Amino acid sequence: MSGRFHVAVALLLICLGTSLFAADLPDASQLPSRPQLPDPLVMLSGEKITTPAQWNEMRRPELKQLFQHYMYGYFPAPPDKITAVVEVQDEKYFGGKATKKQVTITYHPQAPKINVLLIVPNHRTRKAPVFVGINFCGNHTVVKDSQIPLPTTWIYKSCPGCEKERATDAGRGGQVDVWNAEQTIDRGYALATFYNGDLDPDQNDFTDGVHPHYFKAGQTKPGPQDWGAIAAWAWGAHRVVDYLHMNPDIDTDRIALVGHSRLGKATLLAGAFDERIDLLIPHQAGCGGTAPSRGKIGEPVHRINTVFPHWFNDEFPKFNDHTDRLPFDQHCLVGLCAPRPVLFSNAVEDTWANPDGQFEMLQAATPVYRLLGVEGLAPNSRPEIGKLIDSKLGYFVRAGKHSMNLEDWQAFWAFADKHFGKPEGK
Ligand code: GCU
Repeated sequence: MSGRFHVAVALLLICLGTSLFAADLPDASQLPSRPQLPDPLVMLSGEKITTPAQWNEMRRPELKQLFQHYMYGYFPAPPDKITAVVEVQDEKYFGGKATKKQVTITYHPQAPKINVLLIVPNHRTRKAPVFVGINFCGNHTVVKDSQIPLPTTWIYKSCPGCEKERATDAGRGGQVDVWNAEQTIDRGYALATFYNGDLDPDQNDFTDGVHPHYFKAGQTKPGPQDWGAIAAWAWGAHRVVDYLHMNPDIDTDRIALVGHSRLGKATLLAGAFDERIDLLIPHQAGCGGTAPSRGKIGEPVHRINTVFPHWFNDEFPKFNDHTDRLPFDQHCLVGLCAPRPVLFSNAVEDTWANPDGQFEMLQAATPVYRLLGVEGLAPNSRPEIGKLIDSKLGYFVRAGKHSMNLEDWQAFWAFADKHFGKPEGK
């Protein structure tokens, strides 16, 4: 079969919604070695992509298939509908500056619900742009507020107030400085946040969280190409976006998604697979997110697959010692976000996340942005410590270590102001 015919058949199968295309893809061991970064504008068959239509109709679907098949696992089909219940509403939040809602989202009758904390500025004449944030420790840590329910599932030992892997009241407000919610309101943005553990507590255990509810009859553990934890967290962000589209206070043309580290990996993946997310900030995401899998600095692929075997599917470890065989690298995931703005933000001392390699990913994704008629990474930009590069593909590296703080948020707000237009805040 000629390469072109092969691809045409594959695309037809995708359109028909069959799973044959997955079976049609070669085993990881059969993929050719590509020590250099694969060209995002060249199909697996070798065919060159030269028009936006070819990108949208051929290469984009192919890359989505490849990333699911060989790395993150296949997402289930989105639910036909979700239901959202406002459990608590407070219109005088932050001294009257904002309205808080605690919302529970149901997307599957048996799966755990997603608990969303939504805070929207009151002083405005139009719908509010929003930052959606995936949090590590529960909504009760984002603001100090006795009304916010504690997660009842497993939480990380490092979370404020964690006792015996469970949340306690002592954690309330423990991540105020990470999320800067009140300042976000002052800047004119809403904040919608949820705990990643609502989708899947971050352990190598597929008996809890969302996964078992999407097993086929008789299935007890994920198949080799089924979705892992990162895809589940990303999928949670998609469901929160479903809800925001039902909320009349939110400007759905200005939805930004932010996540830190492993949740930054989920952030980029979520944006690549859902064009309703208008701006992406995968913060210090590193390996398996924003850093090259072929990179020689920081966390290697074999290490991430060994220490966190549940994050990706069971195909990805086949590349542990053969990252050269990956039919993509992470610049292609950025390409899937084109032409939307994406900011990679980093810290100088966080070499584990390979800040320099991340800059190279933005450079390598730029041809996709140019093909779609926008600038990508600004020409001649150089990463300068503490200075935001605010082109469509943006970059920020500050002094310091692996964390998320006010200085990062100042870059996030400035980047969103540039691409969304400044909201009615200060
Ligand atoms: C570990 C892991 C990283 C991850 C980070 C985090 O360091 O190796 O890949 O990004 O945890 O999520 O904080």
